[in-house]
Amino acid sequence: MQLPNFIIVNKRLFFKFSPNSSVPRRHSMISSSTFPIARPRRLRFSSAMRQMVRETHLQPSDFIYPLFVRHGQGIRRPIPSMPGQFQFSIDTLLVEAQQAWDLGVRAVILFGIPAHKDALGSENYDPQGIIPQAISALKRALPEMVVISDLCMCEYTDHGHCGIINTPEAAEFTPLLPEGYVLNDPTLHYLGKTAVVHARAGASIIAPSGMMDGMVEAIRAALDDAGFGHIPIMSYAAKYASALYGPFRDAAESPPGFGDRSQYQMDPANAREALREVQLDIAEGADIIMVKPASFYLDVLARLKMDATLPLAAYQVSGEYAMIKAAAANGWIDESRVMLESLLAIKRAGADMILTYFAIDAARMLGDS
Ligand code: PBG
Ligand code: ZN
Repeated sequence: MQLPNFIIVNKRLFFKFSPNSSVPRRHSMISSSTFPIARPRRLRFSSAMRQMVRETHLQPSDFIYPLFVRHGQGIRRPIPSMPGQFQFSIDTLLVEAQQAWDLGVRAVILFGIPAHKDALGSENYDPQGIIPQAISALKRALPEMVVISDLCMCEYTDHGHCGIINTPEAAEFTPLLPEGYVLNDPTLHYLGKTAVVHARAGASIIAPSGMMDGMVEAIRAALDDAGFGHIPIMSYAAKYASALYGPFRDAAESPPGFGDRSQYQMDPANAREALREVQLDIAEGADIIMVKPASFYLDVLARLKMDATLPLAAYQVSGEYAMIKAAAANGWIDESRVMLESLLAIKRAGADMILTYFAIDAARMLGDS
């Protein structure tokens, strides 16, 4: 017969365990009351009381603001699928970044739209390219701002993939692999080279997002060789092949020209694999680990948080932003409340920092409340 593992004495619940129970013994000392002694509503009585017992707090310095930058002057071109977001030229980018800084946002991440795309994405490692120019302008205007450079090839390549493509014309052509395959190891060379160009321009953090195997190790080595041992790497470690990147690809003008990214980004069905990706990136020298997207992957964040020793970032991506904006524009949800709730959920699940297009709006709301 199965005996109950608790007894109720004087309306209190006591747990008891047999000596060979696998449950740790210290639990046998815990008593927990039940209704009517226990009434969780007591602690929700007033706003002050609720503030006192609140477990998670958002602050503007939690946010990293993604910004899109292109060549030109006086440009502030709205991105149709991301209402409230723009492609900036460097002059208007500085105004936007200053505004974020004044509201308490301490970091931005930059995405470039090059003047010219080719098979190798060469504008990405051109010291006169859009990103190096934007980085140095930002560091001049706002020396304290953490300027993160997203390091990937897809915005700069004519084929829109995150690496070198296997074609008979390519110097790296590998007959054993199919044509059109994204070549891993040859790509690493370009990532290392680009990281150094961005660091020289003044980037505070390098954030590789291409999901190439060994990318963190290659970038760490290239940075160290060039004297940038002090520049951290924020790795997009668990980046899923998500349909939520659609609006970003409009914004950055970077959709893949053929196929998709499922040969390098993760399968949305996998969580254990995220632990492996993270372990590898930590072993390669990552300083900050990222999960992307955020809201649909809170389980992954929570699992990583359990034994994380590195800071954890989560990217609330373009599709997450667009869905909230669209429902709000229809009057179906309250935009500010859903915005703050979404960010709170991401932080509660385990994110130490959140990349979000809501950075300015959320910082403003937090400042007002
Ligand atoms: C580039 C990159 C992407 C995003 C960030 N860096 C797009 C992609 O992988 O296709 C997505 C960000 C967003 O959707 O907000 N590798
Ligand atoms: Zn990419």
